[in-house]
Amino acid sequence: MTQQWPTWLPLRADLQSLSPYGAPQVPSQAAMNTNENPFPPSPQLQAAITERIAQISSTLNRYPDRDAIALRKSLAVFINELSKTSFDEKLIWAANGSNEIIQSLFLAFSGGSALGFTPSYSMHPLISKVTSVNWVDGARNSDLTFNIDVAIAQVKEVQPQLTFITTPNNPTGDAISIGDIERLATVVASVGGLLIVDEAYAEFSQEKSAVTLIDSHPHLVVIRTMSKAFAFAGARVGYLVAHPKVIDAMTLVRLPYHLSALTQGAAVVALEFRKELLATVATLVSERERVAKALHAFGFSSIPSSANFVLFSGFGQSAPQLWQAMLDRGILIRDVGLSGYLRVTIGNVAENNLFLEKLQEIQNETSQS
Ligand SMILES: Cc1ncc(COP(=O)(O)O)c(C=O)c1O
Repeated sequence: MTQQWPTWLPLRADLQSLSPYGAPQVPSQAAMNTNENPFPPSPQLQAAITERIAQISSTLNRYPDRDAIALRKSLAVFINELSKTSFDEKLIWAANGSNEIIQSLFLAFSGGSALGFTPSYSMHPLISKVTSVNWVDGARNSDLTFNIDVAIAQVKEVQPQLTFITTPNNPTGDAISIGDIERLATVVASVGGLLIVDEAYAEFSQEKSAVTLIDSHPHLVVIRTMSKAFAFAGARVGYLVAHPKVIDAMTLVRLPYHLSALTQGAAVVALEFRKELLATVATLVSERERVAKALHAFGFSSIPSSANFVLFSGFGQSAPQLWQAMLDRGILIRDVGLSGYLRVTIGNVAENNLFLEKLQEIQNETSQS
């Protein structure tokens, strides 16, 4: 339900019908709704961050490095290791979560329309609206998977300034091949736009990262985050990999000193622990496969996921009903607003077992009544 605004409040007319982003933040035994990594930082990482923060706190009277050079250098090393690239910090930008990166992209490049293939990450259209950019909902296949030919046709028709793809996609989990991304990039270039590839879940996927296309496709921009595989959501660090001119454009729209010294310091330490942090990825991927198999054994269906969540369907009640029944049993999953579908974030083994156990309990009760 949209809220009523008082007449004395000069709120922009185009914002009045919007609802704020909001996955419910309610107490639960297992929080499996916002695609976080369930594994907390190790005691060693906690100690290293605490030590670095203590050092930084002695200079908190000063503004932080406005350009976050040390952090961007560490991110470049990480990306080069993962993707065998040879980028320096001039191709990396960092901000308070990839949401801030998305906002900066809209602020800098918002002359025409923006196109995305929904259902996808809900903040792309929401930030588009907030920044007064005309958002166009592109289509996917009827089973919700991405269709490259349909996408190419829509880019040609809409001629957007910004085209968004998310791979692996949230909430469906399907990934787009590097070959298809390159095909789309070529078409996006022909209409004079930028292709924004949101790779928030890339570390969980076997597909090659789109960062490997940046040298040959300067209008391709890759968004990544430390919130998911990197298990660092609370620190709020997202980043962008792109041609240095895209980075220069980011410096025009960022707020001065946007990334606090504490955030920058903590993120550099986390990147030093990257091997340890990313070691959880293999566990989450094998748990994802186990959960998907169990869901199929219950008679549900799901799109094969390349991320740390599974979108499932085929339950004999409405999504809000099942969501509430699960919450009543302490399991918080996500109703993404798609009729007949719910999304579960992969947790640790105990959380996944609890999720499956409660789901089966509800199924048994439903089939008996
Ligand atoms: C596809 C996608 N992009 C970006 C984000 C935002 O991540 P953050 O702002 O934590 O970096 C999310 C979070 O769920 C996401 O699913």
